[in-house]
Amino acid sequence: MIHQRNILVTGGAGFIGSHTITALVEAGYNPVIVDDFRGADTTVPNRIEKIVGFIPSFVIKDVSDKAGLKEVFEQYTFVGIIHFAAYKAVGESVQNPLKYYRNNLLGLVNTLELALEYNVPNFVFSSSCTVYGEPGEIKEVTEDLPKGFAASPYGNTKIIGEDILKDVHKSGSHINIISLRYFNPIGAHPSGLIGEFPIGKPNNLLPMVTGTAIGKFEEITVFGSDYATTDGTCIRDYIHVMDLANAHVKAIEFLESGKSSFETINVGTGQGASILRVIQVFEEVSEVKLNWKFGPRRPGDVVEIYANADKANHLLNWYPKYTLEDSVRHAWNWEKKLQDD
Ligand code: UD1
Repeated sequence: MIHQRNILVTGGAGFIGSHTITALVEAGYNPVIVDDFRGADTTVPNRIEKIVGFIPSFVIKDVSDKAGLKEVFEQYTFVGIIHFAAYKAVGESVQNPLKYYRNNLLGLVNTLELALEYNVPNFVFSSSCTVYGEPGEIKEVTEDLPKGFAASPYGNTKIIGEDILKDVHKSGSHINIISLRYFNPIGAHPSGLIGEFPIGKPNNLLPMVTGTAIGKFEEITVFGSDYATTDGTCIRDYIHVMDLANAHVKAIEFLESGKSSFETINVGTGQGASILRVIQVFEEVSEVKLNWKFGPRRPGDVVEIYANADKANHLLNWYPKYTLEDSVRHAWNWEKKLQDD
């Protein structure tokens, strides 16, 4: 029997998770997904099948339920874990902080405890550039910067999550850990078969742009016009979701090589783009005029941040393949395909 390189992927039916599944399969891994679909669309497994040729194992469980999760560890031997399962709506986390602390931290602790108990050697955590808070003078952030002030309970769960991982590492445990600090994932699979399924009105920029262009929303508000940036709007590092997915594969491969036991790594393109630039790119690639207006600043927004991706480049040999134009085009294809479904 061929030894299967099983990877546990918690939250693998979500936006970044589902794209990572396709990248893992392509790299020869066997992903086993634990997801209860509370933040994902139930058509995702069949959509993944259209890309990879089979439906991977989806186990419908909540990672906050340790006994239930343990059954999965009993059933499979894992060479690694990618832990995506978490809530991610910044605004909701401010309204309901305990929901975020309970779910995001309990899920992480349960998964780590079982990783220790079952001797799973490698662990990749979904972190965020939110851990930097508002950067100082230098907007291109490196991993060695001190963690900033979290603008939301959601952000705080990422800061605390990283602290938990560091403490586990310091305790001398066998687990090799990489915390990937995502910048702003956008786009969709180039096939248009999977993409983002925002629940309700999206908070994020790209689903609002494409959703407005397709007519789901009347208009999009650009939050703030008077920031100290080139055109007065906030600057982010938008990264194609498939490039981000591939960073997870590279992270697992790196951990499997046994070269390091704890790393935090930025995953961004290294390029900042303003909101107006994103809108301009959208209008160019879609040939649709977007109905947008300026509105007040959104509380808690960071003005400008983008990745220094040298560490991902050199340590993981990871380089983004897609441009901002590609990302926006794929997001738009996805929005159009979804409407035709
Ligand atoms: C936010 C979080 C980030 C988190 C991510 C998860 C903050 C500071 N950051 O990223 O930690 O990982 O969500 O989803 O909260 N915008 C508009 N109009 C809109 C929507 C967005 O102008 O309708 C602007 C925002 O003000 C921002 C930019 O677009 O300047 C990007 O916003 P968004 O997509 O929400 O991402 P972040 O705020 O960067």
